[in-house]
Amino acid sequence: MQRTLAIIKPDAVGNHCAGAIIKRIEESGLKICALRMVTLTQQGAEGFYAVHKDKPFFSALTAFMSSGPAVVLALEGENAIRRWRDLMGATNPDEAEAGTLRKEFGASIDRNATHGSDAEDTAAYELNYFFCGVELLR
Ligand code: CMP
Repeated sequence: MQRTLAIIKPDAVGNHCAGAIIKRIEESGLKICALRMVTLTQQGAEGFYAVHKDKPFFSALTAFMSSGPAVVLALEGENAIRRWRDLMGATNPDEAEAGTLRKEFGASIDRNATHGSDAEDTAAYELNYFFCGVELLR
């Protein structure tokens, strides 16, 4: 069993697509261990995406991620990291395969509807960023 952190980003929440995305998660067989709506501060978004702090898109990314409410979820299942990333599709919706969430709900690489951890160490950091131990007791 593996856990991963998923985010339904402010663009998708603002477009009233959070419910549709949660339905797709449930249909995929991934288990939702924890879920919360959160509006990040700029500083909160910068801490979450600290790994990207030297990238040219860091400022735009963190401004966008703090622009409105997002839904954060802890997902669990066998190969949960890979399965959630496959369900999301490529980072750039233009390159994402048909049937993936980013193809369906994303508008651009900056507004790509969802986020997912990319490895076990980042999943541990990201889950811990939003959820405390007692929230993940399941
Ligand atoms: P996400 O999976 O949330 O991880 C970092 C985010 O940075 C990514 O999705 C994109 O929304 C955003 N981003 C903007 N420009 C780029 C880029 N050139 N390469 C990768 N990610 C980018």
